[in-house]
Amino acid sequence: MRKSLVVGNWKMNGSLASNKALVKSLIATVGVDSAVDVSICVPAIYIAQVSSLLTNQAISYGAQDVSIHEEGAYTGEISVGMLSDLGCSHVIVGHSERRQYHNENSELVARKALVAQQAGLTPIICVGETQEQRQSGNTLTVIQEQVAAITSLLSEQDLKAAVIAYEPVWAIGTGLTATPEQAQEVHQFIREQLGSAGGSTRVLYGGSVKADTAVALFLQPDIDGALVGGAALDATEFSAIISAAG
Ligand code: 13P
Repeated sequence: MRKSLVVGNWKMNGSLASNKALVKSLIATVGVDSAVDVSICVPAIYIAQVSSLLTNQAISYGAQDVSIHEEGAYTGEISVGMLSDLGCSHVIVGHSERRQYHNENSELVARKALVAQQAGLTPIICVGETQEQRQSGNTLTVIQEQVAAITSLLSEQDLKAAVIAYEPVWAIGTGLTATPEQAQEVHQFIREQLGSAGGSTRVLYGGSVKADTAVALFLQPDIDGALVGGAALDATEFSAIISAAG
């Protein structure tokens, strides 16, 4: 039985004041016995703030990217050790915005997932096709390549503990959501690609998820929760998505 997971990806948004208000609202709505695991992945510079706000709370937190290097002369980078030091439980790797704007390829993304797991963090590994790739009928080929990089590096045990997020690039921040059937098709395919680990790995959907679209998505057998962008910045909307997953 896979427990539902809803993750907020704040992307490059927030301030000390707005983070405090948002986290306090979330604490008020997410109970400690929640049937849903909830995590927020915040800008690295705010991890310490969020860590102190979430002391003894049911909401976990994490980062949006990590270096493959342990330490040393890598200006601007942040290591898994640093994320662990601050109490992070999760880290997003391979978000399409990293793939697109920072030229991250599937091999690098898999290496990030591996270093995260070796440090005891849960990687949330993002995969997804562009609009062009979908329109040309290449969705599953693209997903297969992205997942193959992960399965070639991670052990079965690591794959079971990892989280995969299917985020069609054309649905991110556009207001377009994959239909539940479109998402289910890809989620099922991802699970097949994960082999014997597939039944245990949580596979989240991401891309313009809102409270009113979440319900139908979460009814699909292979959708275990959501990776939420814009709606995660609104406590009421994010809480409603969490409720839909319960
Ligand atoms: P939106 O929910 O804003 O479309 O973002 C999705 C996303 O990229 C989450 O990682």
